[in-house]
Amino acid sequence: MSDDLDRIRADSIERIQSARDGAELDDLGRALLGKKSPLVAIRRTLGDLDGDERKVVGRALNEVTEALKAALDQRRAVFAEAERAASLAGERLDLTERTDRLRLGHLHPITQTRDRLEDVFTGMGFTVAEGPEVESDWYAFEALNIPAAHPARSMWDTLYVELGEPGTTLLRPHTSPVQIRLMESQEPPLYSVMPGRVYRNETTDATHLAVFHQIEGLVVDRGITFGDLSGTIDAFTKAYFGADVESRLRPSYFPFTEPSAEFDVQRSDGSWLELGGCGMVHPEVLEAVGIDPEAWTGFAFGFGIDRLDSVLNGIDDIREYQRNDIRFLNQF
Ligand code: PHE
Repeated sequence: MSDDLDRIRADSIERIQSARDGAELDDLGRALLGKKSPLVAIRRTLGDLDGDERKVVGRALNEVTEALKAALDQRRAVFAEAERAASLAGERLDLTERTDRLRLGHLHPITQTRDRLEDVFTGMGFTVAEGPEVESDWYAFEALNIPAAHPARSMWDTLYVELGEPGTTLLRPHTSPVQIRLMESQEPPLYSVMPGRVYRNETTDATHLAVFHQIEGLVVDRGITFGDLSGTIDAFTKAYFGADVESRLRPSYFPFTEPSAEFDVQRSDGSWLELGGCGMVHPEVLEAVGIDPEAWTGFAFGFGIDRLDSVLNGIDDIREYQRNDIRFLNQF
């Protein structure tokens, strides 16, 4: 009988060791220790044995049962550990794996151009000032010498906001209201540029945007002349476009400057690029903000950043800047 048990034990342990997974182990557990197992069959015969033999066989039977249970547990622990390792491996994130595929983003091309323009002007001694995009009629027009019925209002197709009295609140159609805010809040001398987003009630096409960007410059000091304006435009265009680039002024009209001009820069092929407007700050504008036009004079200039960038980069359709197509933006 104990030979039988030794054989069962050796045989069972071998089968347990060669089980390939938890399910096979569960089947094996039932076959080796369950109701129909050889061990249970032997246990049923214990009653037929006499006292001493029954004790010996009974003890051996218990030993074998315990040994098989221990072997099953041990094997089960091996499977559990392997399963845990496999699931950890499956969940593992290799954080080093992708670094060479990650590409850093960059600022929008218009923001880059705005930053470069600010650098040029701060290098010339200007400070940078900003103002709100939602403006009142006073700052956008009235204080700039453009009263309500003034025909020049049609130069700016304005988007009005439904707030307060109709026609009193608007999306600024140019950055010039920041001139007014600056002169109201600071005493001259003033040397500032004012970049920012502006809005026009316009249908967009290849050369027009309804939302675009301008940068404006304002100087107010004692004894400022048209020569200073012309020299500043020339110094800025040479600093931004290159020392060999020529600039020129052409007579023009703006309600807030007198005299007024447009300024152009000459491209390498000899053609002129119309850049923006400028002029001597109108005495009415100085008076509107409480600056004595007998004691102080000044000049202002302004131009579109998107337009400048699109012309310089040969972009046929200015709307590309707002389509956010990554293939377009990646070029800059
Ligand atoms: N604000 C003007 C425009 O939007 C540009 C300008 C600025 C002209 C300053 C003269 C002086 O058209």
